[in-house]
Amino acid sequence: MDFSIKAFDTKNTITSAKTGCVAVAVFENKKLSQAAQSLDASGEITAALKTGDISGKPGSTLMLRGVTGVAAERVLLVGLGSVEGVTEKSFTGAVQAAVKVFATLGATDAIIALPMTEVKERDVNWAIRTVVQVARDSVYRSDAQKSKKDPVPTGVRKLALAVPNNAGTKLALAQAIAIANGMQLTKDLGNLSPNICTPTYLAETAKKLGKDYKFNVEVLERKQLEALKMGSFLSVTNGSEQPPKFIVIKHMGGKPKDAPVVLVGKGITFDTGGISIKPGPGMDEMKYDMCGAGSVLGTFRAIGELGLKLNVIGIVAACENMPSGRATKPGDIVTSMNGLTIEILNTDAEGRLILCDALTYAERFNPAVVVDVATLTGACVVALGHHNSGIFTRDDDQHNALADEITSAGKQSGDTVWRLPIGEQYNEQLKSNFADLANIGTPGGASCTAAAFLENFTRKYPWVHVDIAGTAWRSGGNKGATGRPVPMLTSFLINRT
Ligand code: BES
Ligand code: MN
Ligand code: ZN
Repeated sequence: MDFSIKAFDTKNTITSAKTGCVAVAVFENKKLSQAAQSLDASGEITAALKTGDISGKPGSTLMLRGVTGVAAERVLLVGLGSVEGVTEKSFTGAVQAAVKVFATLGATDAIIALPMTEVKERDVNWAIRTVVQVARDSVYRSDAQKSKKDPVPTGVRKLALAVPNNAGTKLALAQAIAIANGMQLTKDLGNLSPNICTPTYLAETAKKLGKDYKFNVEVLERKQLEALKMGSFLSVTNGSEQPPKFIVIKHMGGKPKDAPVVLVGKGITFDTGGISIKPGPGMDEMKYDMCGAGSVLGTFRAIGELGLKLNVIGIVAACENMPSGRATKPGDIVTSMNGLTIEILNTDAEGRLILCDALTYAERFNPAVVVDVATLTGACVVALGHHNSGIFTRDDDQHNALADEITSAGKQSGDTVWRLPIGEQYNEQLKSNFADLANIGTPGGASCTAAAFLENFTRKYPWVHVDIAGTAWRSGGNKGATGRPVPMLTSFLINRT
């Protein structure tokens, strides 16, 4: 899909635009948007509305051909709901409806002229990002491993956005495309089968990104991890035939002395639960347990494409969690890289065991902030469903600037998060009779005790934990990775430049 900006003014009018299709908005009370009015000199659009063929309800559409006085071959009327105001929801619905029609159109180019500067509480940059994201989503196919590929939509391949053409909108479009490209990588990695998307595959993907965008990429092997005394991370990989990989990827776009932002991703390429084995139904979805890692790599693709003037370091701890005669057992005690001993009471609480060593490793970079991203707990899905990722930071009862920063990056990008608590009471739940810490808490608040566990390893820098268990993929008939939280992470980084 090829995107561009098309600005209209008195000389260069929407009426004279030569295109396969121009999409404009109409409202529920049969009122026309400004762009629709401009195309209605002949009164044909008003006449069509009068017939009742389109309700104006969000997402309703009506195609008109050969409208008198309009250079475009077709005019697509798209319902935007109440004339009172364009909301985030109605605008997104209208874009989805338009894009769906474009996908099967007998034309290859179109202009989307919905009221992009009139969405309540959202700016034109948000609207641009929404159009690009929805359009890219509509052409996304997860057929990399099918012998016969899914039919590719034959319709519109060149989409022009009717917005003012200035430095701001040009940048917004570039950012939107970069984020969509980053999300595509994250989706592709998540959707790949776990026999292909192994820790080695993630390492090769990072190396390829390094070549494409001049990132420095280092992959630490088992020997090096042993030398670093990553006893906790290594305990998770014991049952697997696949070698673990610890990936460090660097984009030094800022001043050499500027403290970097460090992104840490959970890269469990398959989570069986280990000896504390998971039940069979739906276990295939644990191929998505590397989505934290996938989102770190996807975000690197976006920032590489944008050449962000910021120092960003990605750390991906990747391995499988498998049962075997050599696998870690419940009751085993391991020593983490920072010296804390951990009693592994449940081998299925493995995400925190790999992340804690990655978080200790991050100390060496003197980070400005560390953001870890992980499909960490099923309890997070219970708490927040599939709408918001969970975020956790220290100083829970206080106003927290970092939580605010992440929350607004989420809102800005439509990739929302919700704050949950950590603190002393949750740490109490992690006490072990035999080691410094247990890897699971006493019953209750499993997402919070998981985050509290990680907090023990992050005391040398500002830190945010993002639990994406509910947001990284969809289940059921529409199963697939979502590409989240690449939009939130990329916006967070852009806002820091
Ligand atoms: N990867 C899972 C978390 C998960 C489960 C994410 C289902 C999305 C859907 C994680 O490794 C895990 O198994 N967590 C356990 C922790 C428990 C043993 C304390 C869980 O959530 O059940
Ligand atoms: Mn698990
Ligand atoms: Zn897991």
